[in-house]
Amino acid sequence: MKKVIAIDGPSGAGKSTVSREVAKALGFQYLDTGALYRAVAYYFFKKFSSIKDFSSMTEQEIQNELKNITINYHNGKIFLSDEDVSDLIRDPKIGEITSQLSTLKIVRNYLMPLQRSFAEKENTVAEGRDMTTVVFPDAWKKFYLDASPEIRARRRFEQLIRLGKNITFEEALKDVIERDKRDSSRENAPLKISNDAFYIDTSELTLQEVIEIVLKKVAEDA
Ligand code: DC
Repeated sequence: MKKVIAIDGPSGAGKSTVSREVAKALGFQYLDTGALYRAVAYYFFKKFSSIKDFSSMTEQEIQNELKNITINYHNGKIFLSDEDVSDLIRDPKIGEITSQLSTLKIVRNYLMPLQRSFAEKENTVAEGRDMTTVVFPDAWKKFYLDASPEIRARRRFEQLIRLGKNITFEEALKDVIERDKRDSSRENAPLKISNDAFYIDTSELTLQEVIEIVLKKVAEDA
C-alpha cells in the first residue's frame, strides 16, 4: 500500500481545501470521499426525484440500484458513467440525501473497496468522516479538523453563495447542526476522533495556517 494521509472532521471544518492543497504540496493524489457518497446520492436523486426518505426502499432494492452505478473519480472531478457531476453534487438537496444514504451499511460497504483502491495506486490524501477509523485505520498520518458549528455554518454559507445557491445563514447553521448529529450518531462508521489522530481546531485559523500545520506535522514525523 502507498502512503495515506487520512483526514476526518465535520462538514465545514476546511477538510476539502486543506486536503487538496496538502496533496498538491506533497505530490499526492487527493481523494474526496464525500464526493463519492454525493455521486451515489445524485444517482438516486436523478432516478427517484420524489423519494426523500430511503427508508421506503428495501435493502435489496438499494443494492440493485448500486449495481447500476459507475463512478469515475480523478483528483476532485467526479463522473457518473460519463456525466461530469462535480458541480451538480454540491447542491444542498444532494447534501441532504447524501447524509441519509451514508448512514446505510449497504452504501458504505459498496464504496469501501472503491475508496481503498485509490490508495493502492498512488500516495493519497483521503478526506471524509471515517478515513482515520474505518477505511484507512493504518494510514501513514491521521488528522482530525474541527471548528465550532457557527464558524462552519458561516464558511458553508459563503461557499454556497459563491456557487450561486439560494440559502440563508440560519439555514446553513440548521443544516450543519443536523448533519453533525446524523454523522456522529449513526450506527455505521460514525464520525469520531480517532485516538491516534492529530487534532486541529481551525475556528481561529486561516486555511493557509491549517495547511502549514498539517505539512509541518507530516514533515516532522516523516
Ligand atoms: O464531506 P461532504 O460534505 O461532501 O460529505 C457529504 C455527506 O457524506 C456527509 O453527510 C457525510 C457523508 N460522508 C460519509 O458518511 N463518509 C465519508 N467518508 C464522507 C462523507
